[in-house]
Formats: sequence, C-alpha cells, structure tokens
Amino acid sequence: RYNAAITALGGYLPDTVLTNKALEEMVDTNSEWIVSRTGIKERRIVNDDNFATSDLVTMAVKNLLENAQMDPLEVECIIVATATPDYIMVSTASVVCEKAGLTNAWGVDSNAACSGFLYALTLGSSLVESGRYKNVIVVGADKNSSIVNYTDRNTCILFGDGAGAVLLEQTTEDVGIIDNVFRTDGTGREHLIVLAGGSQTPSSIDTVNNKLNYISQNGRVVFKAAVEGMSDTCAEIFKRNDLKAADINALVPHQANLRIINAVGDKLGLTMDQVKINIDRYGNTTAATIPLCLWDYKDDFKAGDNMILTAFGAGFSWGATYLKW
Ligand code: ACO
Repeated sequence: RYNAAITALGGYLPDTVLTNKALEEMVDTNSEWIVSRTGIKERRIVNDDNFATSDLVTMAVKNLLENAQMDPLEVECIIVATATPDYIMVSTASVVCEKAGLTNAWGVDSNAACSGFLYALTLGSSLVESGRYKNVIVVGADKNSSIVNYTDRNTCILFGDGAGAVLLEQTTEDVGIIDNVFRTDGTGREHLIVLAGGSQTPSSIDTVNNKLNYISQNGRVVFKAAVEGMSDTCAEIFKRNDLKAADINALVPHQANLRIINAVGDKLGLTMDQVKINIDRYGNTTAATIPLCLWDYKDDFKAGDNMILTAFGAGFSWGATYLKW
C-alpha cells in the first residue's frame, strides 16, 4: 500500500506590495480598521496585465522543482486549484505544462475557491495512493486582483495574489495525507460569488457596467459559516483519528481573517503557537493560502509532525485534512 507524502514545496508572490495606507487612498477605509478587523497589514498583487494565474503557478512550480532538484520531464501530473483561471476554456494547467516545461505530464484544474487546494490535495494524493502515479504536483494559485473591485471596501481590503505548490510522492512509510473531512453546500453560494462571466450569466456590457464580474460577498454570513465549518470538520478529524489538541504540531488554516483563525484555534483548544499565520503579509490569496503557509513555515516542521490543514470558501465548500509530515 502506498501513501502520498509531501516531499517538496514551492511558492511565488508578486513583488508589488499593496499596503493598507495605499488602500486608504482608493476607498473610504483606514489601516487601523483593516488590521483590527482582519489582521491584514499588506498584500501582494500582480502589477502587469500580461502576467496571468498560469505565470504565478509557473513561478511556484519552478521554485518547487529547484527545491526538489527534479527535472520537469519527471513530473507525471499537475492539478491546479484556482478560482481565477487564465481562460474559461483551456485549463490553466495546460498553459502551465507548456510554460514550466512539464511535457510528460497531464494537467487539470479544480475550482473550489478557497477550499480548492485541499480538495486538489485529496485528488492528487488519491492518484499517488492508487499506485498509478509516482508523483503529482498540486498547486493553489489565484490572481485575485483580476476579480476584485478596487472601489468596494467590503472586499478589496481582503485579497492578494500568489501561488503555492507541493510535490506528492509515493512512500511506503507511515506519513503523508491520512484523512479528510470535506463538505459542500450550494445553498451558500449567493453569499460569496462572482456572478457573471460563466454560463449562468455570460459577460456583457451590462454585467461589466453593473460590476457583476467582480467578487461580491456578505462578509458577516461568510465569517460565521467559516468559523463553524472549519472548527466542525477539524473536530471530526480529531475524533476519527483519536487526536487531542496537545497531539497537534501545526494547524495550517486558510488565511481569510485573523479573527476567523483565532476563533477556530480557540474552539479546538489550540494555543496560538500551534497555529500558523501569514495573513498579515499576504492577505487572502484564496486557493494559495494553505500551500503558501506551508512554504513559509517549512523550516518549523519535523518528520512525523501531526498537521491539520483546514479551509472554508465559496460554494460554500469547506473541510479539513490530517497529514503526517
Ligand atoms: N473600512 C472601514 N470600515 C468598513 C470597511 C472598511 N474596509 N468595511 C466595512 N466597514 C464598516 C461597515 O460599513 C460597518 O459600518 P456600520 O457599523 O456603520 O454599518 C462596520 O465597518 C462593520 O461592518 P461589518 O461588515 O459588520 O464588519 P465585520 O467585522 O464583519 O468585518 C469583514 C467585515 C472583514 C469582511 C468580515 O466580515 C470578514 O472577514 N468576513 C469573512 C469574509 C471573507 O473572508 N471572505 C473571503 C473569502 S471566504 C473565505 O476566505 C473564508
């Protein structure tokens, strides 16, 4: 029997820093409000119309391959989790296979917004556990600046751009992805959505004029559902795997709001040194938050560590994954 272990990490963040001060010039907000309500001090954004999500992914994949000392021709499969694909038709993974030189790999996208990376990690690990694939790269990436309305203070303060990647490889050791608890509930979709640009409401002059191609959300509803969803699924993982708070070396949560993260940590009885946080520097990078957090904190993790990854996002979609490092 094979397990799927994370054997290398990669990441990429654009150079341009969008500070809270800069947002004060764009909308009616202030840095103190943003920091106290979200924990975000700054975020990175792509400052080049020609640099797409596939470019974020390609940079993260190249960084991963360098860290793994792996030839791109050895990669067998890549799954790209993103809510901001380059195109409606042609997967971002296809573009990445070309740009990153993964000419022996097949690639596919998976979209579950902020939960996208966790869902894709399960798809990728299942391919490896089946014995059919020796390796799969799983990437979470979003160019949120392409769907954020920078005149809407409810949303523009939250999001940033970035990409994080993990390499999954076969192992017979007792490490890797162990368990998942995932949920999807379409009744929540109205609360966090990009209304236009898909087959339900194709883009038109009207959708553009009415700003329907941007993210809209009901922040309070999302906040409450995120705290409940992440803490409930983590608690189920604890129960199913006979884990107690003290057994957990790291909780790596989706980075949407520091108050959401703190509330989940409290509900699980974790201390803040068990909870990994980088939202202050990057904001919410949607599918990229969890792999970027793993990448940021990789030097803290030791072989055999018990880690819980948890996410909540549009759909609604949410869940938790238990892995041994
Ligand atoms: N600057 C200053 N004031 C603001 C801003 C802003 N950017 N945004 C809202 N306000 C005001 C409101 O108008 C309101 O004023 P009022 O009391 O006079 O009416 C007041 O601040 C409080 O507004 P709330 O919406 O209640 O503020 P809340 O504490 O809920 O924070 C926030 C809003 C940050 C959006 C929060 O609800 C949140 O983070 N929700 C989760 C949303 C999220 O994370 N979405 C991302 C994708 S999903 C995910 O990743 C989980």
